[in-house]
Amino acid sequence: MIQPPDSASQAVRPSAQDTTGLVMEARSLKKIYGSGEKSLAVLSDANLSLRQGEMVAIVAPSGAGKSTLLHLLAALDTPTSGTVYFANKAIETNDDDAALAEFRNRAVGFLWQRHQLLPDFTAAENVAMPLLLRGEDFTRALGMARKWLAEVGLENRADHRAGELSGGEQQRVAIARALVTGPSVLLADEPTGDLDEQNAWAVFELLERLHRTHGLTSLIATHNLALAARCDRILGLEHGVLKTRGALASASEAPGGEAS
Ligand SMILES: Nc1ncnc2c1ncn2[C@@H]1O[C@H](COP(=O)(O)OP(=O)(O)OP(=O)(O)O)[C@@H](O)[C@H]1O
Ligand SMILES: [Mg+2]
Repeated sequence: MIQPPDSASQAVRPSAQDTTGLVMEARSLKKIYGSGEKSLAVLSDANLSLRQGEMVAIVAPSGAGKSTLLHLLAALDTPTSGTVYFANKAIETNDDDAALAEFRNRAVGFLWQRHQLLPDFTAAENVAMPLLLRGEDFTRALGMARKWLAEVGLENRADHRAGELSGGEQQRVAIARALVTGPSVLLADEPTGDLDEQNAWAVFELLERLHRTHGLTSLIATHNLALAARCDRILGLEHGVLKTRGALASASEAPGGEAS
């Protein structure tokens, strides 16, 4: 559950830091898959502070743990240890209760590495899905979905089945679905990974525009260094630790490996 900030132990976030404008934090995140000889430590001590309005890129090689980190931040998976804070409250993923469902549905918009649209449903139905899951009226949900499809430039595709759309169009539908619930944080897992260069730029520019116009705080995993360079800052992920990367050519590490 999402703990109140004044409750005991892990719910209380570290106080030494200036928390002004902090939207999301990760503290000492560790993720080990499996156990015994087959165990795989993907995140060892990942720390992150996202401030209101920032657009941050994570650039790291395949297998470094980008998706793992984003899933933990979205409370889609549970860390082996460490804590994720949203608006200064610890997110507790052990209890599958209403507060956690609310966090997943409303606080965070998630763009999956594979867009995960339902191919036999229309674009509008796909976008409406998160609203229907939280009990929104069907007509109203479809109306909001159409509005969001217009916002991503796909009003004329609303009634097309998702499986019939091009890769770039499918990614736009996925963006509309991620944002239709009005989240404050957008977590995007390689949103341009499957697109050609022209579509990748178009989708990234769309993300930039939506980030700005909707006052989002965005964290974007990408392999595309040119796109990452347009973000406010770039993080690397090495040996399970997040590092600040200064610029493309001169990736420099922050003291202590803290990415804040
Ligand atoms: N559920 C799982 N069980 C076991 N190992 C996993 C699981 N999910 C991921 N891994 C492993 O953890 C490591 C990190 O995976 P992750 O998907 O987070 O990497 P990534 O940085 O997103 O890579 P890519 O750029 O290819 O998407 C990989 O070695 C992967 O095989
Ligand atoms: Mg990944």
